[in-house]
Amino acid sequence: METTPSPLPHKVVAIDGPAASGKSTVARLLARRLGYVYVNTGAMYRAVTWLALRHGVAPSDAAAVGALLDATPFECGVAANESTLRVEGVDPAPFLNGPEITANVSAIAAIPHVREVLVARQREFVLRHDLVMEGRDIGTVVFPQTRLKAYIDASEEVRAARRSAQGIRDNLAHRDKLDSSRATAPLKVADGAVVIDSTFLTIEGVVDEVVQRLGL
Ligand code: DC
Repeated sequence: METTPSPLPHKVVAIDGPAASGKSTVARLLARRLGYVYVNTGAMYRAVTWLALRHGVAPSDAAAVGALLDATPFECGVAANESTLRVEGVDPAPFLNGPEITANVSAIAAIPHVREVLVARQREFVLRHDLVMEGRDIGTVVFPQTRLKAYIDASEEVRAARRSAQGIRDNLAHRDKLDSSRATAPLKVADGAVVIDSTFLTIEGVVDEVVQRLGL
């Protein structure tokens, strides 16, 4: 049975959307503009992927990945108004956008226990900070009670062009299909979210539109 989510002690702007829609850059800029903390939840799923690969655990082995995560110190913090991670005492940030992580992260993100653990950690941020949190399920699962929800989209062509301009190899269509079709917390537009197509907008233009449409 669904329980009613509790009221939030701080403000949360939830930013969801597919890969390379521009949501990370938009969320970071928006957080700076509002003076809120920026939380990148994709980095948390990538960090678990990094952990599994580092230990030789197959991303398809849900039980082994879950057991490894449960046994690992996985610290989530905030520095300079942005979320930070320490996994087994290491800051994994420099390793998280490599092709091996990107190719395996959707399998890791489909594991219900991994999602349960990470969603609980994501919810802890709101105890202390106003947040701009970006991901795939922020408005649907992590903070469905916030009224401030945006879903950022862009055409597949533009998203692929953005990734190659970043020099990042990413099978976007495949990853989107996995992220949108998984059983637990699939990517979808949250109830009440404003949908913004960033295909023909600059990043600043998208931030302006989020601010205006959410009345921030
Ligand atoms: O935003 P990103 O590309 O760094 O996210 C990496 C993967 O993590 C993405 O393919 C789906 C997953 N993810 C998720 O399932 N839920 C989130 N809230 C954030 C990311």
